[in-house]
This record gives sequence, C-alpha cells and structure tokens, in this order.
Amino acid sequence: MKDLIAHISKQLAEIDIVTSGQLEDFKLTYLSKKGKISLLFTEFKNVPNDQKKLYGEEINKLKQQATQLYEDKKASLKKAGLSKKVVDYTMSASPLKIGSRHPVSLIRREIVDIFARLGFTVMEGPEIEDDWHVFTGLNFPKEHPARDMQDTFFIHVNPDHLLRTHTSSVQVRAMEQERPPIRKIFPGRVFRNEAISARSHCIFHQVEGLYIDTNVSFADLKQTLLYFSKELFGSDTQIRLRPSFFPFTEPSAEMDISCTICGGKGCNVCKYTGFLEILGCGMVDPAVLESAGIDSKIYTGFAFGMGIERIAMLKYQIKDIRYLFENDIRFLNQFS
Ligand code: PHE
Repeated sequence: MKDLIAHISKQLAEIDIVTSGQLEDFKLTYLSKKGKISLLFTEFKNVPNDQKKLYGEEINKLKQQATQLYEDKKASLKKAGLSKKVVDYTMSASPLKIGSRHPVSLIRREIVDIFARLGFTVMEGPEIEDDWHVFTGLNFPKEHPARDMQDTFFIHVNPDHLLRTHTSSVQVRAMEQERPPIRKIFPGRVFRNEAISARSHCIFHQVEGLYIDTNVSFADLKQTLLYFSKELFGSDTQIRLRPSFFPFTEPSAEMDISCTICGGKGCNVCKYTGFLEILGCGMVDPAVLESAGIDSKIYTGFAFGMGIERIAMLKYQIKDIRYLFENDIRFLNQFS
C-alpha cells in the first residue's frame, strides 16, 4: 500500500496536461470509479486496523491532490482557449464552400463557345441605349409599337435614353465601328416593359449574332444555325425556318428546333407540334447596312437573336422563368 501511494503521488507530480483530451484521460485514469485512486480505497479494506488511520489520511491527501490538479488544469486550459480546439497543423484544411455558375451563365458560355468555333468573336454594348441604336438604325418605322412606352422602358430625364429591348442594338454599334468582314456575337441583358409571369420577365438575356461579308447567303445562315442547334441540343436535332418579320432583316424567319423532350413526336412541352421556337433571324436589310455606311451592293449579311432564359428552360426543363431571377440557393445548387 505504501509503495502504491508513493508511486501514484510521483506520477501526479510528473504529469503533464496540455490538451483537453489529456485532461479527460487524466480524470478517467485517476478520478473515475475504476480509477487508480478508487482502487486504493478498495485496497484499504485489507489494511490492518492499526494502520487504517495513517493510510486513510494518505489516500485522502492523494485524492485531494489529484482533484486539485484536475481543477487547476481545467481552468488553465479554458483560459488559454484550448479546451475545445487545439491547432493541429497536420490536419487538412476544411474545403471552402464553392458556389455554382448560374444556369443563364452556363448556357451563355455554351452558346459563345459554339460560335467561337465558327470564328465569331464576342462584343458587348451598353444596356442604356439611345433611340438610334435600338430602333432607328435598325429600320424601325416611327410608328412601330416597340417604340411605345408600353413596351420599352424610357429614362425620363432624357427621352432619347432607354433600356435596350434587344441586343440588336450592338449590331448597329459593330457596323459603325468596324468594316466587313464582321463576324461577331453579342451576349447581353435586355429589358422589356412586360408583366412578369411563368413565361416572361421584364429583364432577360439574349445572344445576337451578325455576319457580314461578300456573298453571304441565306444558305450560310441556315447552315450556321443547323450546326449551332446540333452542337447545343444534340446531333439528332432538326431545325425548321418559318417566314417572319423584323424591321431590320429581309427576308426574316423564326427558327424552331425539334422538341427536346419528345424528339418531334408531339408532347405537352411542344404543344403536340413537335417543334419549339428558339430564335429570330434573317438577312440584314440593305437599309440597315446603308445607314451604317456599309455598301449593300458589295456586302450582304445575316443576323440572328435568341433568348438565353428560354434555351436554359428548355435544356434544364425549368417550368417557370422566375426561378432564374430569384436566386434561391436550393434551385441554384442543382447546377454545381
Ligand atoms: N432582335 C430580335 C428580337 O429580340 C431577334 C432578331 C435578331 C431577329 C436578329 C432577327 C435578327 O426578337
């Protein structure tokens, strides 16, 4: 018994506690019910009666010493702020939370990449525009409804300033700044005074394309759009061009692709037509070329424009355009 007490006392004197883990170990080894000191109390039963007083005092002293040590170390660890975490320099860093790209950015990038492979370069223009670049330079007649307050956001301090309603305004800027051959795409945000619903929003994005050179024909337009559609929607994709009207293209067309859901058989997404409309296009109207100072007897060109949200909705099967503007993390996380 005597040796045992001396041994434990020596251990207590030498013990070194620097982490909360070591502190817990200490408590278990010395102070718990099955700890070394409790075992001494069990041994105590076998001590001859005449020595009980002596050893009783010794063991109690030891217990006090251990308890005091425990309390002191606990307090000093807490003070050092190390009671919970000890810096372990070998631990790997916790990964940073990385966000995801917005679906509109993903599609925009895909579109830009596809046209880059055909030699189109990116150009951007201002969102706040003037009448010339959005309407007049694009052959919009004075009485065209798009010029109405109903459809366009005007900036009232200056009635000539408005939010562009389409990226075709950047076509005009490109034709003013450069001489043919011009082969560019213009991604950007556009604004229309429309009620917000599941299918339309007052802010959305477009990608516009413009190609002007000698001998550019409608066949070139069609082939470019076919290549683009197959790249974006898959090699089985078919396209269909329907006659349409835009003031700045002649002839004009709207392009449909075979339905991405049913492949053309007919379903409720394509309203049983087998096709989905995705863009407007046409041959640049000679009047537009001329007003930008490009000789329409030498040069011809084609242009097209598409809505990015619409394509994102088709590709990712998003039912409501508003999801693309609300920035709900639960929605956006699906694109990481
Ligand atoms: N600017 C047209 C629109 O917003 C699309 C378009 C672009 C049509 C280029 C023809 C040529 O609807």
